[in-house]
Amino acid sequence: MGDSAAARRRVGVVGAGAIGTSVGADFLLHGFEVVFVDRDERTLAEAARKVAEGVRFAPMLRPGLRRLSRAELAERARYVVDLGELAGCEFVVENVTEDWAVKRDLYARLDAALPPQVGIGVNTSSISIQRLAAETTRPEWIVGIHFMNPAYATEAVEVMRGANTSDDCLAYVEELVRSLGKQAIVVGDFPGFVSNRISHVFFNEAARLVQEEGVEPTVVDQVFKRCFGHTMGPLETADLIGLDTVVLTLRHLRESTHEDRYEPCGLLEQKVADGEVGRKAGRGFYRY
Ligand SMILES: NC(=O)c1ccc[n+]([C@@H]2O[C@H](COP(=O)([O-])OP(=O)(O)OC[C@H]3O[C@@H](n4cnc5c(N)ncnc54)[C@H](O)[C@@H]3O)[C@@H](O)[C@H]2O)c1
Repeated sequence: MGDSAAARRRVGVVGAGAIGTSVGADFLLHGFEVVFVDRDERTLAEAARKVAEGVRFAPMLRPGLRRLSRAELAERARYVVDLGELAGCEFVVENVTEDWAVKRDLYARLDAALPPQVGIGVNTSSISIQRLAAETTRPEWIVGIHFMNPAYATEAVEVMRGANTSDDCLAYVEELVRSLGKQAIVVGDFPGFVSNRISHVFFNEAARLVQEEGVEPTVVDQVFKRCFGHTMGPLETADLIGLDTVVLTLRHLRESTHEDRYEPCGLLEQKVADGEVGRKAGRGFYRY
């Protein structure tokens, strides 16, 4: 059954990197139109390639997802630099670099570009929703929406309620997440939320075992997969997220909790300095 252009819902995805492209592909697979925004044409061209790849592989990872033809993809996805192109979107998911200064600058500009009734979902690993909301004139329509990668293969989204997030905004986001075939799990706006407060201790300790005890990454991951029944081990997961994003998140957690356990271990810092940031670079703890 074809859905008419007039009936289609449209969302914006700002920041089309590792997670933004995955989130956008998920919206496209669920019948939405998506306007992708990133800093330059080269990044956008790479994003379009990743989105096409995601759309092609998603039905294999999540049986039941409908396939999108190339023509449908071309009709529904747009790639732009100008935030002004988001004006026709009902909601925007923000996925730019995990850096307070980058996000803060963007929120002021996004707030100016979007009509007042449009909500913004912060897809962050550790930055406070309330702090970003304070940079806008719509704090009640700012909410955390933390997708895991790859977004189209997951069954739930961690939704973070900021101090000012309204009941209407929360209800809207819960419905939006349901329309992607997922459950919204609502948590508070505390450092690292639930997911990353815990997962980043695993990532850091797993890297430390490699660094200090000489344990092979495959051994660490095998223990998690074969003994605990996890689908992926911590080092494979860190590679998938991107070790640059993992290190930025650990630094935020260290600053906001004052806990030494979040101090990024030397091996993680070294891999980032060497450009070995994981799957997206072709090399991290593993080669791809
Ligand atoms: N990687 C993951 O698995 C994952 C999962 C959930 C949430 N997140 C969060 O999503 C955000 C992005 O993470 P990522 O791993 O995709 O990072 P990434 O580095 O792969 O992508 C970030 C993108 O944002 C773009 N960008 C930076 N500043 C911009 C601006 N002012 N305007 C438009 N685009 C801009 C960059 O060009 C890049 O394409 C972070 O806040 C991260 O914590 C990541």
